[in-house]
Amino acid sequence: MDDITGRQDIDASFKPRPSDLDHEFKIAPLAWHLGNLKDAARRRLPRGIFDFIEGGSYDEDTLRANTADLSALRLRQRVLASAPSRNQHTTILGQRASMPVALAPIGLTGVIYPRGEIHAAKAAQAFGVPYSLSTLSTCSIEEVAAAVPAPFFFQFYMFKDRAVNAALLQRAEQAGCSALMVTVDTAVHPRRNRDLDNGMTVPLKIRPRNIMRILMRPRWLAGWLRHRPTLANLAMFVPGGTDLGTVSLWAERNYKGAVGVADLEWVRRNWPRKLVVKGILDSEDARLAIKLGADAIVVSNHGGRQLDGANTTARAFPAIGDAVGDDAELLFDSGVRSGLDVLKVLGLGAKGCLLGRPFVYGLAAYGEAGVTAALRLVAQDLDQGMALTGVDDVNNLPPGLVIEPTRA
Ligand code: FNR
Repeated sequence: MDDITGRQDIDASFKPRPSDLDHEFKIAPLAWHLGNLKDAARRRLPRGIFDFIEGGSYDEDTLRANTADLSALRLRQRVLASAPSRNQHTTILGQRASMPVALAPIGLTGVIYPRGEIHAAKAAQAFGVPYSLSTLSTCSIEEVAAAVPAPFFFQFYMFKDRAVNAALLQRAEQAGCSALMVTVDTAVHPRRNRDLDNGMTVPLKIRPRNIMRILMRPRWLAGWLRHRPTLANLAMFVPGGTDLGTVSLWAERNYKGAVGVADLEWVRRNWPRKLVVKGILDSEDARLAIKLGADAIVVSNHGGRQLDGANTTARAFPAIGDAVGDDAELLFDSGVRSGLDVLKVLGLGAKGCLLGRPFVYGLAAYGEAGVTAALRLVAQDLDQGMALTGVDDVNNLPPGLVIEPTRA
């Protein structure tokens, strides 16, 4: 690529990874498995911030079901038709990727780790996977573009004022973002019980208990005081202050809410590159999004953070795959916790997946190195899974790779 954006192709940052992933893993372990990164994140973050990442909406039924339904899928073990060498390289939204994974957009990443968006984007680029920057990031589109030469995806939340929306799209285009990911499953901000209990609301509820919890995490506090994060993409639109509290209040009051047909038509008219619709769980919505010009769909329940009781992606995906066929690229998101999960979602028919919390644990714990550690773990598991299922290429899967529980 990338004559369209004029930015460096992500290929340029490809480092051929050794085929012996075990060896690579053993020489630089920050974590033996993802649970280590999660524990380290818990130790590093104040309780309210950790819960903000970890939690879902209401009773968190869908959050739990996301991982449970993925675990319930079984992989077809094939050992006699072995795959001595295995390829993970593929493309996601036209961009080369060293494995079928992209980092999901995560709002307020810089509250989790100072200038977290830049650390995560750098790790993603070095590993050769795409990065998605949230509208609600603490480093601006321009700052990330200046720090990371590879093109990234911009996740777009719509605001009531079309002039704000137009300015955001223009900035993303100028920064060379290769795809726009419009999130459509956030018509409302549902109750998140953990956030309410912790006072993580707009405006923040400062309680003695929360102050104690913050004081118990001096490293995190020092990072916060040094960088004083805000919503950097939005601060320029806000009269009366650029601090996080003021800008968050403005964002909440000016947020558009539901994204409808007319909105997607407007976005399609105003965005010339790849358009991705994120947050689809239903075949009819998927067909409509394609009719309105989506090049790709992220099948997602927002990591269990929106409609509690919504279907899981693992269950919703097959019907959407049937309805969409080859008309759009389908990405899987919500609940992926390992490379074995990545193999399962490929088996369901996804081109790749977005990884949310797993990379955030790594970032919270160790910054860029932690994101790299999370990506390595995923790549290693994927490689081992491929070896034991006889898959030699993620772009060419044998039939029946995934066995649904009812047919097992
Ligand atoms: C998110 N997610 C999200 N999605 C989005 O479109 N814009 C955003 O700003 C955010 N912010 C955000 C913050 C945090 C802390 C989390 C955990 C998630 C949802 C995210 O992109 C993705 O859909 C889920 O995280 C995927 O689920 P897993 O991988 O976390 O289970």
